[in-house]
Amino acid sequence: MSIVVKGGLVFLGSKFEKKDILIEDDRIVAIGTDLKAEKSLDASGMLVLPGLIDPHVHLREPGETYKEDFVTGSRAAIAGGFTTVIDMPNNKLPTITKARYDEKIELAKKAKCDILFHFGGTDDNFDEVKKTNPQSMKIYLGETTGRMFLLDPSSLEKHFALFPKDRPIVLHISDHSEDEEKNLAKTYDTLQKTLILAKKYDRRIHIAHVSTKKEMQIAAKYEKCTTEIAPHHLFLSTKDQKRLGPFAKVYPPLRSEQQRLMLWSVLEKVDCIATDHAPHPIEDKEAGAAGFAGLETSLALMLKGCNDDLLDKIWLVDRMSANVAHIFGLPKKGKIQKGNLADIILVDPKKEWTVVGSELETKCHWSPFDGMKLKGKVHTVIKSGKVVYEDYEFV
Ligand code: NCD
Ligand code: ZN
Ligand code: ZN
Repeated sequence: MSIVVKGGLVFLGSKFEKKDILIEDDRIVAIGTDLKAEKSLDASGMLVLPGLIDPHVHLREPGETYKEDFVTGSRAAIAGGFTTVIDMPNNKLPTITKARYDEKIELAKKAKCDILFHFGGTDDNFDEVKKTNPQSMKIYLGETTGRMFLLDPSSLEKHFALFPKDRPIVLHISDHSEDEEKNLAKTYDTLQKTLILAKKYDRRIHIAHVSTKKEMQIAAKYEKCTTEIAPHHLFLSTKDQKRLGPFAKVYPPLRSEQQRLMLWSVLEKVDCIATDHAPHPIEDKEAGAAGFAGLETSLALMLKGCNDDLLDKIWLVDRMSANVAHIFGLPKKGKIQKGNLADIILVDPKKEWTVVGSELETKCHWSPFDGMKLKGKVHTVIKSGKVVYEDYEFV
């Protein structure tokens, strides 16, 4: 079956251009004008983007499928424009052995999008890392959901020494203490020490959910360190705590309004936008769980940044696709080009909508952005050459 995506404004890496895209089987076979195929999709007025890639999601399967599972999580991904996501290891049954890693791959076969997995590093699973030989690792240096942070500081050094140095180790640096001053001091200290160690082993690291300007400045000092920012740290602050109550809890915590604005001032330096999609149902939030669902709101929030002239659309799409593919080693993804996998999304930049938590695909059915009016919505998703979502609905 061949498909042509006709007349949209196509993202071609450094520019948007009005083009047609021809798809055969699961690949992009041509980009041009007046292309023809068995099926035609009218993309006039739409932005045509590479399927977005999110390097940081928690889809909770196995272990806590009452929070999310690979079907609901991947539906949320597709509805939000993500055709590939990388899942974190801090499950109730953590991804820290080869058996668990292989089990996740099996379980994720039912998903609507591609799901890859960060392998968790602990104080004593060096052999399991070696046996599994994953594309990336995740190490927790502070307390968060799942409690899988390192206890012995020498384990970090050992993982840094043993894991292939050209593959990224993703780090959760954030501290959990409530006192902002203490929290920030500890965060910066941990980050600084981690960078020194990374330099010692000449290894690549990736800092998860950077939430302050200073963190970004420290991270930028080491050229093999890449970073991500989550949209909620750009759009929410402690000012929202009163309104959100226990629903405002997240790691790293929401920062002060001043810190939030300072984060915008260094946004340009960031390598990826990551949702840190961390769903918890309402009852769990009321009991103190930390984390927000983000897959279905992140693109529109970031497009709001573009509409408000705070950031450039080309820059943004790159940080949500090609750059992520580059950092995490995903060939044939993240770019609309001949020969690449046909993961393509059509976004209506003028479509206005209101976030309604209960109507989202995610199992947690709430959002910290509930009630917010946004502009720009995913209209169609083509995954590996198949139309899986069309006219704002699953096919
Ligand atoms: C995440 C979760 O719930 O798994 N929570 C969060 O507040 N971000 C864990 C994490 O990313 O640290
Ligand atoms: Zn984290
Ligand atoms: Zn996370």
